[in-house]
Amino acid sequence: MSDPTSNPPLNASDKPVSLFQRIGERPFARLAEELYRNIDGDARIRRHFPEDLSATSEAVRDMREFLTQFFGGPGEYSARKGHPRLRARHMRFPIDQAARDAWLDNALRALETVVTSERLDEPTRHEIGAYLIRTSQFMINRE
Ligand code: HEM
Repeated sequence: MSDPTSNPPLNASDKPVSLFQRIGERPFARLAEELYRNIDGDARIRRHFPEDLSATSEAVRDMREFLTQFFGGPGEYSARKGHPRLRARHMRFPIDQAARDAWLDNALRALETVVTSERLDEPTRHEIGAYLIRTSQFMINRE
């Protein structure tokens, strides 16, 4: 730890490279679209979501901007809506283990679609997948 030369620089400017820098904005836009396309057809949780879940909907825009910002892209979500406070924003929805599992099922299927269409590599798939698994579990707010 005390030796600052023990790790090689991660890039020319010696800053960690964010996922956004590596893969750009398109995969996050596609992930938001595919997630809500899947949820639109999922009777287990559809009722919690707004009527319009199309690619141009507010829901897709919120998700796209949030994911982009979270993975190191422009902070458009917070510029528009303030601090994400993701768990607090989800408190008005009853999210139990079953709802979370259904949501995650849709999210991981969306990820598979985007991994294929955007030719994302395995470390990228793992990083996004692990985030979705962990964070969705953290959204549970009901027995
Ligand atoms: C990785 C986990 C998750 C992330 C990153 C995430 C992200 C988001 C974001 C950014 C919003 C928009 C919030 C706003 O600006 O008002 C949102 C809304 C919402 N989320 Fe999640 N969410 C996650 C998990 C879940 C889970 C497990 C459920 C369970 C069903 C869920 C249900 C909802 C609902 C019902 C809305 C409201 C949709 C709307 O009115 O547009 N979310 N989520």
